[in-house]
Amino acid sequence: MTTTLAHALAQAQAGGLPRLDAQLLLLHACGRSPQERAWLIAHDTDVLPPDSMALWESVLARRLRDEPLAYITGHKAFYGLDLLVDASVLDPRADTETLVDWALQALPAAPQRVLDLGTGSGAVALALQHERRLWEVHALDHSADALAVAQANAQRLKLPVHFAQGDWLQGAQGLFHAIVSNPPYVAQGDPHLDALHHEPAMALSSGADGLDAVRTIITSAPQHLHAGGWLLLEHGFEQAQAVCALLRKAGFSDVQTRRDLAGLERCSGGRFNPA
Ligand SMILES: C[S@@+](CC[C@H](N)C(=O)[O-])C[C@H]1O[C@@H](n2cnc3c(N)ncnc32)[C@H](O)[C@@H]1O
Repeated sequence: MTTTLAHALAQAQAGGLPRLDAQLLLLHACGRSPQERAWLIAHDTDVLPPDSMALWESVLARRLRDEPLAYITGHKAFYGLDLLVDASVLDPRADTETLVDWALQALPAAPQRVLDLGTGSGAVALALQHERRLWEVHALDHSADALAVAQANAQRLKLPVHFAQGDWLQGAQGLFHAIVSNPPYVAQGDPHLDALHHEPAMALSSGADGLDAVRTIITSAPQHLHAGGWLLLEHGFEQAQAVCALLRKAGFSDVQTRRDLAGLERCSGGRFNPA
């Protein structure tokens, strides 16, 4: 049976995939870049050649089993960068660009020492280094596999981020002007985890209320921040109040929250001003 590009797209959408996902997946099966969506429209009556058809059937089946598009194509766009990703790292989310925006606004463009805790694919650290060439950006993760992906991205993008393996701030050396982190923050047993089973558990959940990693980072960050330094954290959309309370309890000032593109309270942070 022959399948046209239009049929393939309709098949994916009938299976429940959003149109954009279906288009990007089909471009991947056709060996085309994600920028070529117009090509799909111009060629919608073309028949898929046998090798593209075989790849299409296999990638469509994977996507319909909830595997992230980024793991299937091996790429994810983040803050204008093309990142390589695989199943050893969190699929970087557009919401996390809020954290990057905040760090860029909070600090001067002059040389600063900045640490990204739990770097995964390197998304946050690489975006910051790309935007601020004078900063000394450090990135840390507990997972050696994640660090290998982040380091490969840094090499490919020619960005001089310093990487280290460690357990949150136990792996950090010296003082920073800002510590930023998108830590795991889903509560263990949360039903949303079922749909995320392709991503590393270590990147997703953290204790009974999801805040174990946040607590560890907030408690230890003051010893690693310059006076006036910022701690900026991404969290779940219902966690802002709890995270702000933890920040205040640890002595942070200027505690505030930022919303993501959907208007949800997504990041909270504050400044460390020792008495
Ligand atoms: C939510 S993911 C964030 C990944 C990336 N920063 C992003 O935004 O796409 C959390 C990251 O924290 C790392 N992580 C988990 N436990 C850690 C620990 N104890 N110390 C350091 N990193 C840890 C995970 O390996 C994972 O890469």
